[in-house]
Amino acid sequence: MTLRAPPLALYVHLPWCVRKCPYCDFNSHAVPAAGLPERAYLAALLDDLDFAARDCAGRELVSVFFGGGTPSLFAAESIGRILERARQLFRPAIDFEVTLEANPGTVERGRFADYRGAGVTRVSLGAQSFDEERLAALGRIHSSRETRGAVEELRVAGLDNFNLDLMYALPHQTLEGALADLEQALGLGPAHVSHYQLTLEPGTAFERRPPPLPDDESAFAMQEASASRLAAAGFRQYEVSAWAPPGRECRHNLNYWHFGDYLGIGAGAHGKLTHPHAGAVVRTARVRNPGRYLAATAPEARVEDSRRVGADDLAFEFFLNVLRLADGFSAASFELHTGLPWPSVAGPVAEAESRGLLRAEPAGRWVPTPLGRRFLNDLQALFLPGSDALATNTDPTGLASAARIG
Ligand SMILES: C[S@@+](CC[C@H](N)C(=O)[O-])C[C@H]1O[C@@H](n2cnc3c(N)ncnc32)[C@H](O)[C@@H]1O
Ligand code: SF4
Repeated sequence: MTLRAPPLALYVHLPWCVRKCPYCDFNSHAVPAAGLPERAYLAALLDDLDFAARDCAGRELVSVFFGGGTPSLFAAESIGRILERARQLFRPAIDFEVTLEANPGTVERGRFADYRGAGVTRVSLGAQSFDEERLAALGRIHSSRETRGAVEELRVAGLDNFNLDLMYALPHQTLEGALADLEQALGLGPAHVSHYQLTLEPGTAFERRPPPLPDDESAFAMQEASASRLAAAGFRQYEVSAWAPPGRECRHNLNYWHFGDYLGIGAGAHGKLTHPHAGAVVRTARVRNPGRYLAATAPEARVEDSRRVGADDLAFEFFLNVLRLADGFSAASFELHTGLPWPSVAGPVAEAESRGLLRAEPAGRWVPTPLGRRFLNDLQALFLPGSDALATNTDPTGLASAARIG
């Protein structure tokens, strides 16, 4: 079987933060007492990138995303070195997008102008809340004033294409409080808002000692009221947590949700690459622990896992992603991104439609209905390999936390 390769993106993981937030289950670690090992990590990343590119050098690259952790702890020069190497190895697309995640507590004057000079075109800022008590309860290292200051810096640098990460259903938060946060965020004129309900993730300090959170009904009311406000401001919910005016969607994240290809370099990064001639899609994962990642003496030693995805899993993973999108999917996109024949999944699609979870649209598309969006886990479970059971929180690919991506 020969496959056509879908668009290719690059994810670069920078795993350190000033300190670990109590709710966060990302692969992020407090900066070691000896300081940020920036030079050693940059050298490892460049080596990792060369290694990852060996199967796909010369392909068009649609985007790069520096995620973390806190990428804004790294100097613009380091970010520029990685971008320079990526430009040598691949063909940047005409509308090449380069996003950098930043924590408002780490951006001193002039920093964003330097990042822009290094090739960054988009910034994702972790605002989370504009209420000092909420920020303290979340263990954030910054005030709302610093978030406003960071946005001013973005404007000065000409980086108008920025996202604000906001969380709701925070400890002791009221509906009015959640809406006030959103109002402050919108007042800063972002091009994109990622709006996440705070969840208690396994292994976090919040899971061990949960703070008092709003009940499900209150959280749902916050979500609904926020959705109306975002829509009134011209933002469209193009994915479960992602809002943007038309044309301002994050291309990098859209590529994940369209089930495109991506290389993942850096500690714990995941990748997915189509090998057209072998007719295979291969998933990779890098060694998660930053110390072990740095200690590797050969590029192969940074690879923790590399496995070919079977046909059943391929179909499931496609639906796990595209069902998050307001625009859904088409039979043609299924065949292009999985190399599988449409009839192999026509059954579950018809069942989802008959249950009112999917709606057929003109031009051969299917989109999740409001019911399907509300019961997304049930809808996704219809596509589980060899099962018609309704599972919840099924995420064999580890993509769930990767869904929280500005
Ligand atoms: C990797 S972090 C991004 C940026 C940067 N490290 C920061 O925090 O400022 C991605 C985003 O995921 C969201 N997030 C992290 N943990 C979460 C949780 N337990 N529940 C909901 N959202 C969460 C936060 O909004 C966070 O900004
Ligand atoms: S939320 Fe952001 S700043 Fe906080 S620990 Fe996670 S990655 Fe680091």
